[in-house]
Amino acid sequence: MDQNKKLQQKIYVKTFGCQMNNYDSERLIESVDKTHKRVLSPEEADAVVFNTCHIREKAAEKIYSEIGKIKKLKEVNKNLKLIVVGCVAQAEGKAMIQRQPTIDAVVGPQMYHKFSSVLNNIKSKRIIELDFDSHRKFQLLKEKRKIFSLSAFVTIQEGCDKFCSFCVVPFTRGSESSRNVNDIKLEIKNLVFNGCKEVILLGQNVNAYHGLDKKGKENNLADLILELEKIDGLERLSYTTSHPIDMNDSLIKLHGKSKILNSYLHLPVQSGSNKVLSSMNRKYSKEDYLKIIEKLRKANPNIALSSDFIIGYPGETDKDFQATLNLVKEVGFAQAYSFKYSSRPGTKSSRQENNEVCLKEKDNRLKELQALLNFQQKEFNSKFISKTLEVLVKGKGKIKNQFRGTTKWMQVVNFNSTKKIKDIEKVKIIKASDNSLLGEVL
Ligand code: 5AD
Ligand code: SF4
Repeated sequence: MDQNKKLQQKIYVKTFGCQMNNYDSERLIESVDKTHKRVLSPEEADAVVFNTCHIREKAAEKIYSEIGKIKKLKEVNKNLKLIVVGCVAQAEGKAMIQRQPTIDAVVGPQMYHKFSSVLNNIKSKRIIELDFDSHRKFQLLKEKRKIFSLSAFVTIQEGCDKFCSFCVVPFTRGSESSRNVNDIKLEIKNLVFNGCKEVILLGQNVNAYHGLDKKGKENNLADLILELEKIDGLERLSYTTSHPIDMNDSLIKLHGKSKILNSYLHLPVQSGSNKVLSSMNRKYSKEDYLKIIEKLRKANPNIALSSDFIIGYPGETDKDFQATLNLVKEVGFAQAYSFKYSSRPGTKSSRQENNEVCLKEKDNRLKELQALLNFQQKEFNSKFISKTLEVLVKGKGKIKNQFRGTTKWMQVVNFNSTKKIKDIEKVKIIKASDNSLLGEVL
């Protein structure tokens, strides 16, 4: 294929799942930008890429209905290629192609350094790249970022060794590994040079970060944050997702001292019942979690706390569920995500489901928990009414002259302005709901 023809190639990428997948998709598109231009609909594309999520049953099944739509498009456009990447690709591999022969290639999340060659070499043969090679993938991430954005994600760590009994991540993303301090610094410096003001550090187990610095010394996440504070122009920093057992004291203290850390922490607890936590292999008790929260609030009394909950884990009784509600009442979350337990292939809990909670019970418990969490979220947001906050503007709102941004507590703020907007605007909060704030520019 000559270079001109290559330049005409069009790629459509659809991302499912977490922020790490969004980051990966961005980097995949950048890695082929010499040969492929991004388009916004599959109908315009020569190659369609689905970056998939396997975390819950529904997420994985959604991919197959999307693949069905592409199969129809392929009947019209015989040259169209379909590549499935991400965690479903990793988990199902060859079986995926057997179920849907319309797929031309599957590439696992640790093999994205091969993506460009896969994309340019699909002919009649199907390609499967499913090794775990995070080292080579990290090399690909060293390529300079081309995005211009006020807020950006940066992956610093991949994989997980915790093996919570419900979770597929250790199987789809492989074991824990961390990028080098210097590579991360260079990536962020380049983003900041292009105008970025906020970086969100990503990892499946981000606070287990243990990357090497230039001298070959291991740095933990607190060490890394202190290094990143030196980058002139970087004004805000967050990290996600953390595991409670890796919340060490130096990291907790940084939440009180750091000039750039957002006043926010996402720290999944999953359940408030020690019996369920132990069965989940979470490696901490409710008391351990509450101790961490106490220390965090001592460091930063205003910190916004967020969490994940799983409802209806096998064997969860009403008493266990009440313990979760009690924990929520004790902590008071600013934000949270809650999910019905879903059985994932290969996980330990999928083999011990003789004591499944019935669906109706799961639904009722989830509703009750979400009502409490929404109430707490609104209560947290209401504290900001009539305060003036610095809002990092992230885009336009749905209405004319409306803008949308985020606070240091990671709340979304909508505000109107007919004037030219600065990157960070001072906004007076006039109204609060459970999932956003409404304000006016001073
Ligand atoms: N069922 C339901 N929720 C799950 N999560 C992970 N695995 C499962 C599962 N099998 C949730 C956890 C995790 C979040 C990313 O997804 O709460 O923290
Ligand atoms: Fe999954 Fe998080 Fe547990 Fe790792 S720590 S197994 S990513 S839930």
